[in-house]
Amino acid sequence: MTSVTITVNGKPESRDVDNRTLLVEFLRDMLRLTGTHVGCDTSQCGACVVHLDGKAVKSCTTLAVQCNGSSVTTIEGLARGDQLHPMQEAFRDNHGLQCGFCTPGMIMAAIDMVNRHGGNLDEATIRHELEGNLCRCTGYHNIVKAIAAGAQAMTASGRMAAE
Ligand code: FES
Ligand code: FES
Repeated sequence: MTSVTITVNGKPESRDVDNRTLLVEFLRDMLRLTGTHVGCDTSQCGACVVHLDGKAVKSCTTLAVQCNGSSVTTIEGLARGDQLHPMQEAFRDNHGLQCGFCTPGMIMAAIDMVNRHGGNLDEATIRHELEGNLCRCTGYHNIVKAIAAGAQAMTASGRMAAE
């Protein structure tokens, strides 16, 4: 067991973890932050994407001990009180949610995309960047529309990062 302290959504969390504990297990099982999903265990689906020190990572292939001393943002950390993050609003307004299973990972990946590419995202860039995120409901059209709108809204609101 190793003692780790990870700041999660702005709050330091210290736990003793097995060296094999994955970040997604730390978040879901130890902190009960169940918005981060596990869809594949093979690092393909992106349902588990969170931000580690501001960058998108797949938490199913990141060890908790690797995150000691770092900051993690999950889908639960995006809203400010009752106010959703602009990317969350864009998914709602553009019907980017279907069953919702992939949505947390899509939104965390989308914000990272905007942080790296800026607010004017064209469809080809969005589709290329989404290669690591699978949606089983298959309707990518509204997800792509939502990300384009969310990117514009993030720029307009000055909220480029999730943190
Ligand atoms: S659960 Fe992590 S990529 Fe699918
Ligand atoms: S909305 Fe159902 S898996 Fe994507």
